[in-house]
This record gives sequence, structure tokens and C-alpha cells, in this order.
Amino acid sequence: GVTRHYKFNIRMHNVTRLCGTKSIVTVNGKFPGPRIIAREGDRLVIKVVNHVPYNISIHWHGIRQLRSGWADGPAYITQCPIQTGQSYVYNYSIIGQTGTLWYHAHVSWIRSTLYGPIVILPRRNTSYPFLKPYKEVPIMFGEWWKADTEAVINQALQTGAGPNNSDAYTINGLPGPLYNCSQPKETFRLNVKPGKTYMLRLINAALNDELFFKITNHTFTVVDADASYVKPFETDTIYITPGQTSNVLLKTKNLTSNARFLMAARPYSTAASGTFDNTTVVGVLEYNRNTMQFSNTSIKNLPLPPLPAINATSYVANWTNKFRSLGPPVNVPQTVQNRYFFTVGLGNDLCPKNQTCQGPNGTKFAASVNNISFSLPTTALLQARFFGKSNSIFSTNFPTSPLHPFNYTGPPPNNTFVSHGTKVVVLPYNTTVELVMQGTTIFGAENHPLHLHGFNFYVVGQGAGNFNSTTDPANFNLVDPVERNTVGVPSGGWVAVRFRADNPGVWFMHCHIEIHLSWGLRMAWAVMDGKLPNQKLLPPPSDLPKC
Ligand code: C2O
Repeated sequence: GVTRHYKFNIRMHNVTRLCGTKSIVTVNGKFPGPRIIAREGDRLVIKVVNHVPYNISIHWHGIRQLRSGWADGPAYITQCPIQTGQSYVYNYSIIGQTGTLWYHAHVSWIRSTLYGPIVILPRRNTSYPFLKPYKEVPIMFGEWWKADTEAVINQALQTGAGPNNSDAYTINGLPGPLYNCSQPKETFRLNVKPGKTYMLRLINAALNDELFFKITNHTFTVVDADASYVKPFETDTIYITPGQTSNVLLKTKNLTSNARFLMAARPYSTAASGTFDNTTVVGVLEYNRNTMQFSNTSIKNLPLPPLPAINATSYVANWTNKFRSLGPPVNVPQTVQNRYFFTVGLGNDLCPKNQTCQGPNGTKFAASVNNISFSLPTTALLQARFFGKSNSIFSTNFPTSPLHPFNYTGPPPNNTFVSHGTKVVVLPYNTTVELVMQGTTIFGAENHPLHLHGFNFYVVGQGAGNFNSTTDPANFNLVDPVERNTVGVPSGGWVAVRFRADNPGVWFMHCHIEIHLSWGLRMAWAVMDGKLPNQKLLPPPSDLPKC
């Protein structure tokens, strides 16, 4: 591989959407951020310089960061954030991964505008396990707030209420004509030639919503998930959670005349209630674009692709079942050394005295794993591990199963209050892990797309209702389960994953719905060094930011 250098100047930049202009945090003044392109086996050296009045850190979502945890990016987990006027060089290799990943800020809600695609091509002289597409196009879904998103999250945390909804969903930063005041240039347009295969590199960078995506009268072949190949399958509707990526092939029609088709994305939510944002972003697929006038009316008159209902849970369950690793080999651990059962879901916190709170029954919303709402430490855990500090964090192990089991999918327990703590799971090097994540239904039934840093896991099982440890494991797929870094834990259902702890470091795991992350649905795994020199975490770079 080669070494590729990038410079990310983090700057405020004025961006206008839906008749409002606001100053947002960007990479090099671009929104969405610039594309990183590399081949598998390459090294990336990315100098990030912070010119904005916020703390910054950047996560390279899905990159395994083998032994290079210092470059992973989540604030207070692997590094202290880069302060205003400071810089930090992220230096890592891309090993054994081809496909689409992405980068995003990993501190507070800065990622609402700081995100961009990472395109990983096969090694030189190797190819995709399918015909080379004619063109490759990143498609990033996002959310746009007219308000400042730091104000949105700060207000939610202070009042204990849910955050204000975004004002629009976006495709590559553009809301499309179904939103009030959207200008013609605020619509994403993809000009295609007839009879060709395009590869869409889909990325869900939205903060709080899982999405359905569809193009009128077109179908997709799904070939990859989270930068791992899957057995190809056909679909006309994509479902994608925040944090997930997927490469899909789109074969264009043999049209000789000009034509336009709408592409649309809209949320999936089992908790769809009165206040839920069910708006739709549209873009346009255009054949022979130059021969057509473009106006919002001409676009709005096109038929909208028929997306599944907002609460189409059976579609989502079937969808997740379709994914199988392409392999061979598929290195799913066949035996388990460390077994965990985590509940993931919402809960609440008491309202502090002399304050009025707007969460459930006048309390504050919270979220937890095994009822522990994770508090961020004030120094990065990885530094603490490396320098042998904060030993109490690494000696009080995280509970392997809930301390007070209840019927997870039934009515809530009497006490829904979370406890708080900064605890990690300590894993010996190269041991195998099975983790069952059980979604609870306290305070609204929402899916939780759980994301693990530093690893891909195999999704060996999933189901509705309470996990049954006696009968469910018999149905686990230990042959060709999909390998990914983010998986949706169904509301009132469960997912089982396996991975091998072969990457020493401290690795964040959290719900990729940003408000759930902010409420504490997060924890960390500390993977210890192996005995051999090449089984140890590398030493920190000298410019590692200080807290
Ligand atoms: Cu894409 Cu910890 O995040």
C-alpha cells in the first residue's frame, strides 16, 4: 500500500438551506465533508487542525484500527478532544477492509455537520467479487436543523426532554423539494447513462433516524455491508440505520429518451408518535439530464416511490435476515470464552431539586446498558489504560448480565431509574466473545443501532421478544453470518453477535442514535495486550491532545 496524506482544516462556514443561513462546523469549508479515497492496505495520515470554538475529535467509523486505537477518535475514550487552535494527526492503516466507511465528529453533536465518506477500493490488481461498476457514487443521508445543533442537545439535556426534531432529512446535504422554501439547487441530482451499472455507496449519517430508501421503478443488488462483502441479493427498498453503510448496485434502464425518477428516504420507527418527524427527502435520478428543464414543480409532480410504512417492523426483521457473509472464509468464533447479556434501552433520572424537567412524568430521560448510564471520564480511557492510571475503572468489571432482571418486553419494571458509572469490560487478548443485546421497551419502543468500535462482529442470531438462552442459541448461524460494525437491536427483541478480541485498546460501544448516546447508552471494552510485540497496542503519538 501507499501512504495518503490529507489535511482537514476544521472551520466554521455559512451554509444556506430552506431559506435560512447558519454557520456550521465543516472540514475545509465543505458540507458534507470531502471524500477520502484509499485502497485496502494503504496508510492514511490525516492532519486535523481545529479553527472552531468547539472541541473536536474525529472518528473513522468502521476502520478496525488494529493496534492503532489512538487514531480511533471518540472523545474521552481514546483521546481528549482537539482544542481550539490545536491539531492532531490521525495515522492508521486500512487492513482487510474494502467498501464504504465514513468519518464523523465524535464529540457532542458536532457530527450533525461534520461527516464525509471513506471510499476503500480493492488493492491494486485485485477486483470486486462482481463486475466493475461503470461509476461509483457516495449517497450520504443526513439531517438538517435550522437551529444550532449544540443548542438543541444542550436544551434536551437540561430539560430532560427529547430533542427537537430536525427540520429535514438530506441526501448529500440537500433536503429536496418537499420541504418548504427548498431552492432548486437544494435537490440532489444523479445524472446517469442508460444500460450501465452504478454502485451507490450508501451511508446513514442521520443523527436520530433509521431510514428506508427507494428509487421509483428501479431495483438494487446489495453487495456489501459495513465494508464487508455479502452474498448479493435483490431488493427495491433499502433499510439502513444510523452508522451503517452499504454498497448497492443500480442497473440503469435502456432508455433512449430523457426521463426522471425520484429517489426518496424516510424514517422507520416503531415509536412513531404524534411528534415524530415523518417527512421525506427526495433526490432525482436523471437520464439525459441536459435535455430537461429543472424546476421544483417538475420534480414534485413525479411519482414518489412507495416506501414502507413508518412502523414496518416486519420489513425490517426480514431485511436483517437477508444478510449473509460472502466468504469463504468466514471466521466466526465457534466457541465462546466470554459471554455477555446486555439490556439496551431507555430509562430516566430524577429531576434535580429546584428544577422543572420535561421528561417522563416530570423526570429526565436517560439511557443505559444493563441499567448503567455511562458517564464520560475526564481523561481518555485509552491513556488511562496505557499509562496504568484510573485502575479502579479497569478493575470494577461491567456486569455480564442485568443485576435486576425483569420482563424486558413486558410492562416496565416499578423502578425505571438508571444508575451511573464509568465501567468497562476487560477482555484478555484474543479471547472470543458472545454478546446478546436485548432491547427493552421502557418509555417507547425504539430500535437501537449498536455500534462497536475497533471490530467487526458476526451477527449470529436475532429474534423478537425476550432472548431465551436455552432455545435460541440452537438457531444461531455459525456458518455465514454477516460481519458488520453496527446492528439494529429490535425494540422488544434481541440480537446476538460474536467477535474475537484480537485488537488491544479501549473500544467504545454505543447506540448510534445520537440522542440515546447522549443519554448514556454507551460503554467500553478494554482489550488487553497479547504477549508478542505485534499483539500490543502501539505507543501514543507525541501530539496526542491533552485534556
Ligand atoms: Cu459512528 Cu462511535 O461512532
